[in-house]
Amino acid sequence: MSILFEPMKIMHMDLRNRFVRSATYDGCANKNGYVTENQMDLYSVLAEGGVGLIITGITYVHPTGQISSFQNSIVGDEFIHGFKRLTAAVHSRGAKIAVQLFHAGREARFPDSSQSARYKQSLKPTGQCLPNHVPTFTPKISTFNPSISYIP
Ligand SMILES: Cc1cc2nc3c(=O)[nH]c(=O)nc-3n(C[C@H](O)[C@H](O)[C@H](O)COP(=O)(O)O)c2cc1C
Repeated sequence: MSILFEPMKIMHMDLRNRFVRSATYDGCANKNGYVTENQMDLYSVLAEGGVGLIITGITYVHPTGQISSFQNSIVGDEFIHGFKRLTAAVHSRGAKIAVQLFHAGREARFPDSSQSARYKQSLKPTGQCLPNHVPTFTPKISTFNPSISYIP
């Protein structure tokens, strides 16, 4: 039998097999980023299908880090309840689940325009706001030039 069907351990997490549903943004959160019944159904079906581990889609950890509408959020404790329900649904079907923590950095967009002004400042990697006059420009692989100091 293929090793794919054999159980394995990742640290303290026991997986029933080695099939992993890779992180997939589904656009099925509600508009405020909460887990929805659609997602409960989707993840339940995935777990019932026999996968060992499901990684959620990109889940933003701060309002400045959102990139898409209907994207899951974990910016505060109020989001725990939904993820607990999702986790219980997945566990009861024998699979495990991991959340993909995410911040969009320079790619961040603010689908809710009422938030836009508040979060227009650039952020240092440490999370401190850069002064307003500093243009929003942080390196990404394709533009990164080691001879330029991006962070003042
Ligand atoms: C619709 C869609 C959404 C995706 N969302 C995410 C995501 O939220 N996070 C992530 O790391 N990768 C995401 N991916 C990338 C997939 O997890 C995967 O790495 C990619 O599809 C390549 O896998 P493959 O080589 O098995 O096709 C997404 C891919 C697709 C097609």
